[in-house]
Amino acid sequence: MHRSPRVLVFATPHDVARTLARRVAAALHANPKIVLGLPTGRTPLLFYEELVRLHADEDVDFSQATTFNLDEFVGIAADHPGSYRTFMRRFLFEHVNIDPARTHFLDGAAADLTEECERYEASITAAGGIDLQILGIGTNGHLGFNEPGPELEARTHKVTLRPETRRSNAALFGGDPAAVPSQALSMGMGTILHARKAVLLATGESKAGCVERVVMGPITTALPASLLQLHRDAELMLDEAAAIRLPG
Ligand code: PGA
Repeated sequence: MHRSPRVLVFATPHDVARTLARRVAAALHANPKIVLGLPTGRTPLLFYEELVRLHADEDVDFSQATTFNLDEFVGIAADHPGSYRTFMRRFLFEHVNIDPARTHFLDGAAADLTEECERYEASITAAGGIDLQILGIGTNGHLGFNEPGPELEARTHKVTLRPETRRSNAALFGGDPAAVPSQALSMGMGTILHARKAVLLATGESKAGCVERVVMGPITTALPASLLQLHRDAELMLDEAAAIRLPG
């Protein structure tokens, strides 16, 4: 039986990052106009570092690629030091030859947030959809900012962040969870599941419980990442610590 998501386990977080960066470089080579969906957070940092290295050392070319970030905080300007746009500039976009006009973000400072979410969905559609969506997972099982709860939304929407999510983003706001915006805009589960391919990165033992439930548990809105079981071409890339609860 085909199991989804497929599970790949690597010795270290560096091995996960190196392997995914190589795969993205190969995908860019095969399709220079690839549309990537990108995450923020601690987990993808090594991956972005590897992409920067591959660009510097091996001329990996981002000039025709398009990107869409998964989510953004509400109520802060794009150039705020805590915004995900700032994060992406700092860790990837300033260091590779991507065309800034092809990097797409939700605008958390937009006057009309409903319109902003609709604009984002329309620009993903206009770009031909997302070819490869890279994801992190919250320790509560969220994908993007789709938080666990009785319901999930299909399309890009406004969310209220859970306390644990605000805590885990505190570093971007001077270490103070109360300074983290309480609301965000996020791609919905349908937006994510419509990507042609989805790769979820998880490293470290703090993710092992969620990873076990994503792989072994039922599909439930209490664990948004479990919906990846519905995707035809989804993969988990794990280090050994995140995979520790999976059957060996
Ligand atoms: P992390 O965040 O990579 O910082 O653990 C992941 C997420 O919350 O999606």
